[in-house]
Amino acid sequence: MTLNYDNEALPKVLTVENMNPHIREMEYAVRGRLAIRAEELRDALAQGEKLPFKTVVSCNIGNPQQLNQKPITFFRQVVSLCENPDLLAPEKEAIVSQLYPIDAIERARQILKDVGASIGAYSHSQGVPALRKSVADFIAERDGHPADPNSIYLTQGASSGVQNILSILTQNEKSGILIPIPQYPLYSATLTLLGATPVPYYLDEETGWSLDVEEIRQTVREARSKGTDVRALVIINPGNPTGQCLDALNMQDVLTLCHQERLVLLADEVYQTNIYEPEQRPFVSFKKALKEHPQHDTIELVSFHSISKGMIGECGRRGGYFECCNLDKGVMDQLYKMASVSLCPNVSGQIMTSLMVTPPKQGDPSYELYHKEMTGLYESLRRRSKKLEAVFNDLEGVTCQPAMGSMYLFPRIRLPEKALARAAELNQKPDAFYCDLMLEATGVCVVPGSGFAQKDGTWHFRSTFLPPEELFDDFCNGIRKFHQDFMNEYNK
Ligand SMILES: Cc1ncc(COP(=O)(O)O)c(C=O)c1O
Repeated sequence: MTLNYDNEALPKVLTVENMNPHIREMEYAVRGRLAIRAEELRDALAQGEKLPFKTVVSCNIGNPQQLNQKPITFFRQVVSLCENPDLLAPEKEAIVSQLYPIDAIERARQILKDVGASIGAYSHSQGVPALRKSVADFIAERDGHPADPNSIYLTQGASSGVQNILSILTQNEKSGILIPIPQYPLYSATLTLLGATPVPYYLDEETGWSLDVEEIRQTVREARSKGTDVRALVIINPGNPTGQCLDALNMQDVLTLCHQERLVLLADEVYQTNIYEPEQRPFVSFKKALKEHPQHDTIELVSFHSISKGMIGECGRRGGYFECCNLDKGVMDQLYKMASVSLCPNVSGQIMTSLMVTPPKQGDPSYELYHKEMTGLYESLRRRSKKLEAVFNDLEGVTCQPAMGSMYLFPRIRLPEKALARAAELNQKPDAFYCDLMLEATGVCVVPGSGFAQKDGTWHFRSTFLPPEELFDDFCNGIRKFHQDFMNEYNK
């Protein structure tokens, strides 16, 4: 037998054709082709190439600190002390107390005590018990109902929690999960990866992206009659990409539906502090709604939260949690086993999660600055959301529902026939065609509505309103000019 060592002649063992087909089929538009092109343009600018714009603005993803949002000082002070515990040594006290407020120093000491060892050590697979307890206390205070730290998992952002829960919920291609359309593509991508079936239900754009419980019931029954084992309902509240907030009565109907149709409810609440009409539509958690429902002891609920959004925007740190209510004890054991395979969520993310839920209180040395930073960011986000909404509604052929919450607007674009024909010639979806041209003309990277799915025959795009306030007028003017030029070109 001769061994062939000629590498040139050997085909690859792993190829795109023989790899896991679910990964090949999976799509995630938020970081898709347009985002890759945006990076190329950013590199070109850095190398001095002349383009029609000076900067690339990444509005394709809710990544606040990438767009110059400053981190909250207190959180970073505590985290930095935890990262470098030498600063807490008695001989450094005189210097460090000049640099850090006393409550940040005390908090870091307490966290290190809670973590027990170095933050470089693996923690409990579910998350450090004391940090989980801080999350449980936060939930209890937010909702007026107790929470059990043992029902809480700290996670690497909400994404890993969603992925774990979807994988435990699905068995095979017959397992169906109800997802909103439009949806955040974490859900469709994860279901593709798992080989399970997304069961779409539609949000109604004309009524502010509202959700019709009876329509969902019809969807469940239809899917079941075709053999899909529909097991869970995903609700994103406040919505992404659509920005709507559910009202409390609607939430009770959703819970009744879950009870009657035997569905686990997955409540994605990562935008719970991004609420821009708090009097008209305050945030109500599904945990609170559940506790006020007659079937509060039976309906199975998992709710997700994250450090990535809100005014914190620490998405690169990967922190968050989910809370389970009324799940089967055996399933909870399996969930723990799953978490233990990944050993533990990163400890810095766990620390930031605990800080998010236990910020400085009134009277603490850091409270004033914390409060000023949080309200400043909140007011600015609210102003930017209103400004961009007005810009979109002013464009020819564009309508845009307000963002009651979240970080996005999802305008509907009605494109001239000639633009539709040109997109077809290029074998592109019309909204992708429009977004490509916007990026090339303005440097603004948004995501075509087709990346989130949308009602047939309608076209949209999603943009964050995160560009910094001092650049916001330029950003809006760029979009305005692009749209005008586009319409002039294709209306001819
Ligand atoms: C609705 C929704 N859920 C979950 C996530 C995931 O967030 P992370 O994993 O950063 O917590 C996002 C991120 O944009 C989101 O918009």
